[in-house]
Amino acid sequence: MKVIKVKNYEELSATASEVIAELMKEKNDAILGLATGSTPIGLYKNLIKKYENKEISFQNIRSYNLDEYCELPREHKESYYTFMHRNLFDHVDMKEENINIPSSVGSDLNKLAKEYNDKLNSVKVDLQVLGIGGNGHIGFNEPGTSFDQETFIVELAEKTRQDNARFFNSIDEVPHHAITMGIKNIMNAKQILLLASGAGKQEAVKNLIEGPITEKFPASVLKKHGNVIVIIDEEAGKLLTK
Ligand code: GLP
Repeated sequence: MKVIKVKNYEELSATASEVIAELMKEKNDAILGLATGSTPIGLYKNLIKKYENKEISFQNIRSYNLDEYCELPREHKESYYTFMHRNLFDHVDMKEENINIPSSVGSDLNKLAKEYNDKLNSVKVDLQVLGIGGNGHIGFNEPGTSFDQETFIVELAEKTRQDNARFFNSIDEVPHHAITMGIKNIMNAKQILLLASGAGKQEAVKNLIEGPITEKFPASVLKKHGNVIVIIDEEAGKLLTK
């Protein structure tokens, strides 16, 4: 795991966008695994700027998102489908048919999870972007999830619902379930880029970098992957002793 420590969120976003832009220049039909949450928003802003400056194009890029809330229609302002369009896709030349976000609306959620998993197994993601939950979740793989887990319907941890309540009018509106790539799907990517910023991620970053590999802390699985870049800012890295 290569750890890059930068000063602040601006630098973190710029550094992450450089990694992705380099890949996109080398391979104009790269497959990107994308993430939501507040952390990658700055990265997406930088990618939009690079697109506007004609440095990169999304014309042949395909994307697979990590997860999606259940119990929310696609058009809901907090669905990850809407999030991705608002923060990236609506501003670049990405083709709608190349965008893959798990569908979570239907009566048979397990079937939807299986369909998304089959899609994922038919490709090899070149680079997977990840944020990290305060409890160490990646995607929506909560503590205790098996490292062998593939795409599934998850019941969100109370901590995750509380953390994400800031995007909703109240905690009651936060969905209880989500569909998420499993840890096995995430680990299948050729390269992984994890971003963590701010004081709220200090414990998680310490556990990730200095803690043991355990299913109690899902992100720790990344230590078993040979090609991971972790970018943290000074604030997020404050508890690190090494
Ligand atoms: C959400 C997402 C994760 C994300 C995490 C952290 O629950 N499912 O993919 O990494 O929360 O979010 P934030 O970046 O807003 O702290």
